[in-house]
Amino acid sequence: MGSITLKNVSKVFGAHAVIPSIDLDITDGEFVVFVGPSGCGKSTLLRLIAGLEDVSDGEIVIDGRNATELPPAKRGLSMVFQSYALYPHMSVRSNIAFPLKMAGEDKATIDKKVQDAARVLNLTDYLDRKPRQLSGGQRQRVAIGRAIVRQPGAFLFDEPLSNLDAALRVNMRLEISQLHQQLKTTMVYVTHDQVEAMTMADKIVVLNRGRIEQVGSPLDLYRRPDNLFVAGFIGSPRMNFISGAPAADHGAHTIGIRPEHIALSTDQGIWRGTVGVAEHLGSDTFLHVNADGIGTLTARVGGDFAVTHGDQVFLTPDPQHLHRFDEKGMAIR
Ligand SMILES: Nc1ncnc2c1ncn2[C@@H]1O[C@H](COP(=O)(O)OP(=O)(O)O)[C@@H](O)[C@H]1O
Ligand SMILES: [Mg+2]
Repeated sequence: MGSITLKNVSKVFGAHAVIPSIDLDITDGEFVVFVGPSGCGKSTLLRLIAGLEDVSDGEIVIDGRNATELPPAKRGLSMVFQSYALYPHMSVRSNIAFPLKMAGEDKATIDKKVQDAARVLNLTDYLDRKPRQLSGGQRQRVAIGRAIVRQPGAFLFDEPLSNLDAALRVNMRLEISQLHQQLKTTMVYVTHDQVEAMTMADKIVVLNRGRIEQVGSPLDLYRRPDNLFVAGFIGSPRMNFISGAPAADHGAHTIGIRPEHIALSTDQGIWRGTVGVAEHLGSDTFLHVNADGIGTLTARVGGDFAVTHGDQVFLTPDPQHLHRFDEKGMAIR
């Protein structure tokens, strides 16, 4: 139903190769997240898959069929945007029904499909409202409803939660994951937020300057980043990087250690330092420590670990979780 293969796909705008060349396999039913910093080409890649942009070179295969030249409507995909793009003068019911009406489906079929989508999305009680009478989260659910009724081979989401406040974003994240479990339809989801990528994806594609840095499951990328970019992008607070003598001791140009893999003590350890800032989150505390001869390191300790600005502490990295990188920034294994 919803397998997508990109072969040598590139996109050039003017003289700028936004996507030099990408190969990627998306399996039917998979939840794939494209993640990377702003401007790295995530939306462009999604729009190429959708057919909203033409490829400059390469091939897009959907369900085993060459779809490179197909118009968007013939690709069997549904796209959900950050701006919900609802019709303000239409009811929720009419908004969701719209693509079916355009496709000329009969009224009974439309009613049933709209009811089914509304049930899945908890919108049954809101069908007669106008978009302006809904919260941001409900509007986004209407936009997803409009995508669902078309029964696409795959859903394409472009930063669908970016306009929502933080609490609602966490809720909707969960709802979209549950929707995927229910529908089992392929989802390709674009975000700049590594937490969304980690929590939602079966497979994460990390993009940087139009290139794929690494593809893998969330825990693959967390545990075994291929390079400095992925190591620094996945995980929060980000991995500490140390070069110079401490790295050379481990036969590397740079070593990386995550804040959660540094043990903290007030009386002994490998590196000595002074607490700069302590960020108290309640459950955890993030300590930013000025370590002698190394620089600033971030360490995660329990929320009840009592240290404050100016205290002397000792840090010990867990050797099991030390990452090593060569001078090109590639992981040494
Ligand atoms: N239609 C366009 N014409 C020229 N440049 C574009 C166009 N669309 C996107 N770009 C450029 O392509 C790069 C990637 O953009 P985009 O795919 O929107 O990134 P992302 O979604 O990862 O933030 C950016 O440098 C952007 O300015
Ligand atoms: Mg974008």
